[in-house]
Amino acid sequence: MRTRLAIFASGSGSNAENIISYFRDSQEVSISLILTNNPSAGVIERADRLGIECCVFSKEEFYSSKRIQNLLKEREVDFVVLAGFLLLVPPSLIQTYKGKIINIHPALLPAFGGKGFYGDRVHAAVLESGQSMSGISIHHVTEKFDEGGIIFQAACHVDRKDSIKSLALKIHALEYKFFPVVLEKMISVQNAPHE
Ligand code: GAR
Repeated sequence: MRTRLAIFASGSGSNAENIISYFRDSQEVSISLILTNNPSAGVIERADRLGIECCVFSKEEFYSSKRIQNLLKEREVDFVVLAGFLLLVPPSLIQTYKGKIINIHPALLPAFGGKGFYGDRVHAAVLESGQSMSGISIHHVTEKFDEGGIIFQAACHVDRKDSIKSLALKIHALEYKFFPVVLEKMISVQNAPHE
């Protein structure tokens, strides 16, 4: 039986698209749903072009109604991926998908994580700090920003001549290379028969 994924994204959605492309011909994993809290997110156009159902929801609905929980249940979603999603996930959703909800962060956590650290803001802070390394962190999702157990990290050099744009390109390249592979590995471990 295929594992059904839902991807939450608030912005461009290039990671969402990369994950969708990676699993396009997979017998093990399918992408059931894209969800966004941002009615002008680029991910909506991507979902449309890729023929994946996309749900746009408000913050209010996310925290005060069962709309999203019910939709995930109706679509029989097994695993949840946050790819550039900027809201905290409500405790009920974390409970439902215990161990099966992960996020990608564009820095080497625990550095440059927490509230307010997202997207280019993270890269700006890394450059400002003078660090010579940055990278990506794939981690479990908890009720706090960027505090769940780390599953995987990959690093890259930060050059003195890097700009926010050039660092973001390096980080995106790491994300595209590793996020789907790590996801696939996690799903296969979870689906392996227990002794
Ligand atoms: C990605 O770099 C992701 O790591 C980051 O937002 C970007 C989304 O890009 N996530 C965070 O900053 C979460 N704190 P995308 O919309 O093109 O996939």
